Parts: sequence; structure tokens; C-alpha cells
Amino acid sequence: MARTPLVIDTDPGIDDALALLLALASPEVDLRLVTTVHGNVELAQTTENALRVLHLAGRSDVPVAVGARSSLVHPQPERAGHVHGAAGLGGVVLPPSPAAVDPRPAVTALADLLESSAEPVTVAAIGPLTNIALLVSVYPDAAARIGRLVVMGGSATRGGNVTGAAEFNVWADPEAAAVVFRAGLPTVMVGLDVTLPTVLTEAGIARFAAAGPVGAQAAAVLAQYLDHATSSYGTDGVVVHDALALTEAIVPGTLDVVRRDVVVDTGHGAGRGQTLVDRRAVSTSPTAVAVAEGVDSAAAVEFLVTRMERLAASLS
Ligand code: BDR
Ligand code: CA
Repeated sequence: MARTPLVIDTDPGIDDALALLLALASPEVDLRLVTTVHGNVELAQTTENALRVLHLAGRSDVPVAVGARSSLVHPQPERAGHVHGAAGLGGVVLPPSPAAVDPRPAVTALADLLESSAEPVTVAAIGPLTNIALLVSVYPDAAARIGRLVVMGGSATRGGNVTGAAEFNVWADPEAAAVVFRAGLPTVMVGLDVTLPTVLTEAGIARFAAAGPVGAQAAAVLAQYLDHATSSYGTDGVVVHDALALTEAIVPGTLDVVRRDVVVDTGHGAGRGQTLVDRRAVSTSPTAVAVAEGVDSAAAVEFLVTRMERLAASLS
């Protein structure tokens, strides 16, 4: 099977960590590069976490390139430590990686990979979109070579999860999201519409926890996220936003998408960071975005749990 080259642009983050492990568990894709960005916690910590998660899975060979420390225009000092833990991985301290970061800035590493790859590259962007906006601005020819850009971010019908209007990744850098969503790239928007119903239950977590030490570590990382979900939303599981986006990156067509015009609110009122998705009609505009509007959440969760079980078993 030809494996699709994959880049993950990420801010680990608990669901980011799960998304990285899911990619490593999936033979359809070849994870060639991880780029880090500010977001759930500070950049130095998201970078350290990315290195450690790759090492956990025995893949410290995957290059990690450091990206943007802050948003494009307006710094957003508020992070998500209350959800992901102060250090981003739910209070779990994973062993340090022997690998150093790639010497190139993330945008340069991304551009190099896009320009040198014989196959179209899928980019999964599961943090604030600062690095991708910089790529579009600094290396437009490289950006135009992206095969698919799968973005976890935004919301068409569900309002926000940080404010009444805004989803976290878009809210953390609305100007960057505006650049990316109007760039005319082959973008799939995996927003709260499809992620919120996709809940990984305690029973699912227990299945991969039992499959080997790496599964047990992943379950430990998820524990704080589960506590937060249970106390804040009364759910019996965790919303696996970023892992769902990775599933669409790994198996295109997992989600039902409709081409829509998407505008990001970059104003400074109550709507800042909202993705305004025009759902009146299917868009024929060259800058339309494929917005995920339908999901089989049970199938997506089963896919994630099965892959995590397989990864944990293979590493035990
Ligand atoms: C997004 O925000 C972050 O906290 C998660 O990692 C995910 O990427 C969900 O809104
Ligand atoms: Ca994330």
C-alpha cells in the first residue's frame, strides 16, 4: 500500500498526543514531520511534549520543527492548562526523548518537505493556524503543493467552546485562521459540529490501557481530560477533537463534507474567532472550504480504540 506523506502541526495537548499516536498506529500514512505551535500551553512545552510522545511510541526519528511562539497579530496569553494540565499532558511526565529538535524553523521544514515530496502531502493542523498562515505568506508555492489540509478548528452550528462564538484553535489566532480559510487550499474543516459528538468513553480507554504499557501511558495522559469532561460537562468520556481530524487525514471520506464559504470573525467584539459558515448553499468558489457536517461517531471511536490497541500491543 502506498503510504501518504503526513505532517502534523500541533500544540500537545492531550487530544493532540492521542492524534500523534493514532497517526503512528496507521499504515495508510507516513508521518514525515511534526511542527509545533503555541496553543494549549506555551511553545517550549508543546515542543517538548511532541518530542516525548514520539519517543513514547519509539519514533524519535520523526523530525520535530519548532514553529510560532505567538499568534500573528494579537497575542492571546490565555492557554488551556485547566483542560490539558499545566504542562499539557494531564500531569503525566513522559520520559525525555534523546532527539533534538530540527534546526529549521517549522515553516521552512514544511516548505522543504512540500517541495521535495514526489507524492502530495497531507497536512493535519490541530492547533492554532499560525504556522500554516506563515507558510501561505512566506512560501506560497510550497503551500500550493499541499495535497490535503485537514484542520481541527471552528464550528458551523455548535457555537464555541472557549467563548459563546469561538472554538479554541481559531480563537487562539483568528487572523491566521482567516488567512488559511481564504487561501484556496484543499482544506477540510473538522469543527465542533463533528468533534463534540465523538466521545471516547472510559470503557474504550480501558481497552487500550490493557493492551500494553504505551496504551497505559496514553490512558494516564487522558485521565485529567476525563475528569475535566466529567465535572464540566457531565459526560462519561472525552471529546477527541484532534484524533477525529487525524482520522479524516488518514482515511479521507471518514467525514461527510460540504463545500462552504467560511469567513473568520477577526473583529474585537463578542464574535471574535467565530467561523461564519454560509450554509445556505453549496459553494462553487475556488476559496470554498470542505466543512465536515456529518460523522459516524461510534465508528470513529472504534477506529481510534482499535488502532491504539494495536499500537500498544505491538510495542509491548
Ligand atoms: C481544540 O482545542 C484544543 O484545546 C484541542 O487540542 C483541540 O485542538 C478543540 O477546540
Ligand atoms: Ca490541539
